[in-house]
Amino acid sequence: MSSPEITAVELSKAYRLLNHGPTVLVSAQYGQERNVMAAAWACALELTPAKVTVVLDKSTKTRQLVEQSGYFALQVPCYAQIDMVHQLGTISQFDHPSKLEECKTELFYQDDFPVPLVAGSLAWLVCKVIPEPHNQQAHDLFIGSVVGAWADSRVFRDGHWHFQEASKALRSLHYIAGGTFYLIGDEVKAK
Ligand SMILES: Cc1cc2nc3c(=O)[nH]c(=O)nc-3n(C[C@H](O)[C@H](O)[C@H](O)COP(=O)(O)O)c2cc1C
Repeated sequence: MSSPEITAVELSKAYRLLNHGPTVLVSAQYGQERNVMAAAWACALELTPAKVTVVLDKSTKTRQLVEQSGYFALQVPCYAQIDMVHQLGTISQFDHPSKLEECKTELFYQDDFPVPLVAGSLAWLVCKVIPEPHNQQAHDLFIGSVVGAWADSRVFRDGHWHFQEASKALRSLHYIAGGTFYLIGDEVKAK
């Protein structure tokens, strides 16, 4: 996507895209099949090389595509996308083959990476699965090595988030339960 606000993020700073604990969208593709689900249980794991974790339940279609392709992307959605995020997290492509159309989820690709990304998000991390069959089976835990990262420069630039300068529509979402989220709040600094 040739959108001027989408700028590359150094992989050594990629963990900061998740450090504030946002709800994420997980996208994946295998062949012609593409899907996206919501995930609250995503986390940074290592600085260098950048790694992340995400919990993908065995009931999800997205997990199947991740296992088949060996890739996934995490993206940080915003308040403007709240209804889509909740829908992507409450219906399964197993039951709704046209889930992405129903949820009005627009996808794009960045460079030559084989994973579709969700347009309108704040940040994107393309990850290559580091196979850990025991963790995947026993804990539904997937580890990914971050191979590409980008963010919307209106809210993340020079290695830092700048939510305080952005509109409410561009605040990240933090899931509680039952369709209730918090928006990220004010920046405060420790001494
Ligand atoms: C806000 C939110 C967060 C969620 N977090 C997770 C998660 O961390 N891991 C998970 O396996 N499912 C999570 N879910 C549930 C999946 O998103 C849901 O099962 C989804 O329908 C799977 O879609 P799919 O089968 O099309 O891949 C979450 C749902 C919501 C609404």
